[in-house]
Amino acid sequence: MSRVALVTGGSRGIGAAISVALKAAGYKVAANYAGNDEKAQAFKQETGIPVYKWDVSNYQACADGIAQVEADLGLVDVLVNNAGITRDAMFHKMTPEQWGEVISTNLTGLFNMTHPLWSGMRDRGFGRVINISSINGQKGQMGQANYSAAKAGDLGFTKALAQEGAAKGITVNAICPGYIGTEMVRAVPEKVLNERIIPQIPVGRLGEPEEIARCVVFLASDDAGFITGSTISANGGQFFV
Ligand code: CAA
Repeated sequence: MSRVALVTGGSRGIGAAISVALKAAGYKVAANYAGNDEKAQAFKQETGIPVYKWDVSNYQACADGIAQVEADLGLVDVLVNNAGITRDAMFHKMTPEQWGEVISTNLTGLFNMTHPLWSGMRDRGFGRVINISSINGQKGQMGQANYSAAKAGDLGFTKALAQEGAAKGITVNAICPGYIGTEMVRAVPEKVLNERIIPQIPVGRLGEPEEIARCVVFLASDDAGFITGSTISANGGQFFV
């Protein structure tokens, strides 16, 4: 029987590539999304992957959404915590709202999504939790005190939970993408992207969403059963940990 995978933020950007790659690898996939109905419906039409709308920053919405996915597809074996937002601003201009929205989605969202699934994974003795952090959680990024803090928090969460899951057959790992050619990165002012960011990437280009998706497929597989608490950096050589 195919395993069930749930991808948050799974209908756009890196998440869409992850959903598609997991489906191609034989998983039954559910793609969560938060806001863009039009893009989500187009994604569903194009890929045949069902989409589910809820906000990962809301615990009850996550619990209800997961219950619906499990009623439709079966118990979730693989959780990919990919949903994330940016509210970039220099710190002296950053508002409490910009701080709070990013922490609630990019950090607390991992608690909200993983917690309702954790007991079931423990009981069944199998689970894969794959957290999409960021290069900017590893190195910090000017204009992103909120995002860098949340993404660094995701790595701490990954390492702590990996220790709890290990004896129960659950692996918990993180991927830190560098700058990938998605809408999120294209939203960076063009001058900053071309003059400040791309020149810092030794391979000389932005990454492709599929390059992250392939890391996810590997970490989800049985072949990766001995890998837990680890971080895969996929950043074109921009930062070595
Ligand atoms: N790297 C290097 N320098 C940067 C930079 C970056 N990422 N972002 C901004 N700067 C520099 C600017 O070039 C500028 O320098 P100069 O004054 O010498 O020209 C200075 O910082 C101030 O920037 P702005 O003039 O743009 O100031 P602003 O207040 O109008 O805007 C900002 C600030 C909102 C942070 C804007 O610069 C910005 O959006 N920067 C990009 C921040 C960034 O890298 N975000 C990552 C988004 S992608 C992502 O998050 C995915 C992921 O995981 C990698």
